[in-house]
Amino acid sequence: MIPTTLARQTVSKTTLIASTTKRSISSSTPTLLADVSVEHGRGDWKTYGDITSYQPGKFQVKTYNKISPLGLQKFPNVQYDIKEGDEAANAHAILLRSHKLQEEEVPHTVRAIARCGAGTNNVPVARMTELGIPVFNTPGANANAVKELVLAGMLLGSRRIVGGINHMTSLGEQGLAKERVEKDKALFGGREIKGKTLAVIGLGHIGASTARDAEHLGMNVVGYDPMLSIENALKLPRSISLSDSMCNAVRDADYISINIPYIKGEGGTHGIIGKDVVGSFKSGAVLLNFARGELVDSEALKEHLDGNDGR
Ligand SMILES: NC(=O)c1ccc[n+]([C@@H]2O[C@H](COP(=O)([O-])OP(=O)(O)OC[C@H]3O[C@@H](n4cnc5c(N)ncnc54)[C@H](O)[C@@H]3O)[C@@H](O)[C@H]2O)c1
Repeated sequence: MIPTTLARQTVSKTTLIASTTKRSISSSTPTLLADVSVEHGRGDWKTYGDITSYQPGKFQVKTYNKISPLGLQKFPNVQYDIKEGDEAANAHAILLRSHKLQEEEVPHTVRAIARCGAGTNNVPVARMTELGIPVFNTPGANANAVKELVLAGMLLGSRRIVGGINHMTSLGEQGLAKERVEKDKALFGGREIKGKTLAVIGLGHIGASTARDAEHLGMNVVGYDPMLSIENALKLPRSISLSDSMCNAVRDADYISINIPYIKGEGGTHGIIGKDVVGSFKSGAVLLNFARGELVDSEALKEHLDGNDGR
């Protein structure tokens, strides 16, 4: 995918340079391609900086965070020069995971940015769009791992497993574990998830798969996703009931799983789990947010947790 993209971007950049040149130079001016004042809105056009780190004939890829070697194998040595962070002064593409990318870290040579994960909120997408640099993501890449965490979260929210482990560790240190294990287990009662209701907000890769597994665990599943894709709809369990609003979806839920992207700005999802939604939670509901913290209005949630027995 990257090579095609890079090629396409290179073509569109050439076109942009040519048209800018035409506009900014009067007809009597001799053609002076070097005098291009605007290059993706960045001011002076620069090609390569520290050319000692540049290998002609290869695309240079700048990486942040540990990118899986399996993924990097997709970039054969003969065609790509993979370098970490600042070592890549002439990068054509950037690959990153959670690194919070700053504009200054994007060399003038960059033609594409790929986030190895679903969310793109650590990349200044709007600015990159102004600069003509497409930002890709990989939705679904970690979907199974996150789904398993959601399921683990539901179990942890139902049983006092962590409290039980800590209690037994402490008893063990006092030499009382054997004597107290049976007696004290009553301190850590809980509830089963079978027969309970799970509300899944966002039925994408993670949400749809969570909904399917929750049904297999005997749960009732309610979903909410106004932009549900056909591909994901086909993955949903037959018994799911779809809601027309977030508030309605959560109203009867014992567990609520948030699986939507975090999008800043107007019309985005910042604090979308707000007072109205939190106010619709039933008593004792467990909120599972394995997407992004900023999706939830912390004040509203604190108020709910302080006044209720939500988790
Ligand atoms: N904790 C982690 O390690 C981890 C890993 C991967 C993804 N994530 C987070 O989980 C999110 C979901 O991941 P995914 O792979 O399922 O993404 P996805 O793009 O496959 O699915 C997101 C779904 O959310 C829906 N949606 C968007 N806005 C909505 C809204 N306002 N209300 C209801 N639904 C809405 C979309 O229509 C889409 O179906 C990501 O955006 C990311 O922030 C976290």
